Amino acid sequence: MGSDNVFVSMQNVTKQYGNLYALHNVSLNIKEGEVFGYIGPNGAGKTTTMKILVGLISDFHGDIIIGNYKMPAQKNEIHKLLGYLPQNVAFQEWRTVRDSLKIFGKLSGLNDQEIEKRISEVLELLDLTAVCDKKISKLSGGMTQKVGLAQALLHEPKLLVLDEPLNGLDPLSRQKFKEIVKKLSSKGTTILFSSHILSDVQDVADVIGILNHGKLLQFGSLNQLKQGLSTHERVEVLLSAPSDRWQELGAIEGIQSIEQPSSDKIILTLRAEADSDYAINCIGKSVVELGMSIRGISLLTPSIDEIYLSYIQGDQTR
Ligand SMILES: Nc1ncnc2c1ncn2[C@@H]1O[C@H](COP(=O)(O)OP(=O)(O)OP(=O)(O)O)[C@@H](O)[C@H]1O
Ligand SMILES: [Mg+2]
Repeated sequence: MGSDNVFVSMQNVTKQYGNLYALHNVSLNIKEGEVFGYIGPNGAGKTTTMKILVGLISDFHGDIIIGNYKMPAQKNEIHKLLGYLPQNVAFQEWRTVRDSLKIFGKLSGLNDQEIEKRISEVLELLDLTAVCDKKISKLSGGMTQKVGLAQALLHEPKLLVLDEPLNGLDPLSRQKFKEIVKKLSSKGTTILFSSHILSDVQDVADVIGILNHGKLLQFGSLNQLKQGLSTHERVEVLLSAPSDRWQELGAIEGIQSIEQPSSDKIILTLRAEADSDYAINCIGKSVVELGMSIRGISLLTPSIDEIYLSYIQGDQTR
């Protein structure tokens, strides 16, 4: 979880390729120790943002401060704090995993002793110990991705910028990755990552940014993103036996509409101004009065996928 110190600050960052705005006036702050999940459709500008943050793209407009350093002017200072996993990670294929990591360790300024120690630690952490003497060319796609992660973690950076780190990882590896992210964040590492797997973003991100066509549509916690949506709340009633009186629930105060997607399920959509606790109470009472046999009543909260689609599909800025 984050502290109150802003560690990454982007203000009005714009990047153009000819007439195309890959990023348009993007501003966001990420606090120290916070996990930031960056989501958006293909071509939204996520990789461009990350390349700017790590100093691979310098011709942009706007201001970036990382730690107390300015990007790109103090790039060398920032590089000492930074671990980066590119979207399409590439290594020299003829080297072994261990040798590849050694080279990165040296580039990050670690001495030989530290390199050996850290290589063992990260290989263990990412379950790569068994393949440490294999050539990169002999690894599977997911294993290569993990070597990329190992490389980013090697010098214990204060800031991790990970472009689709979960790409190609199996479910157990994804779970482990999320545990690693949470642990590092609890020790104060600031982590930015992009992903198309929204449930993973929901699981680990303290703050989420939704980018579309180079514009940041929303930035905040999942709850804040939910609150920004003007959707109506919905209540689901599950039945243990079908009832032919379900439509009578539509008469309850605060209900806008009612549907029966299957014989054992009724969905009630509340009016925008309705109080959901009060409505659930009324629904419970009516269900009993109507002699319906129920298995459960619950408030349906929008999933991260629904929230995402709602923002992206509702974006009228283009
Ligand atoms: N070197 C380049 N020259 C011209 N256009 C570019 C260049 N790099 C990226 N773009 C364009 O910038 C936009 C943003 O691309 P970017 O790679 O940042 O998207 P992304 O959000 O990372 O997408 P994905 O989810 O597919 O990885 C796209 O329209 C892309 O075509
Ligand atoms: Mg990308």
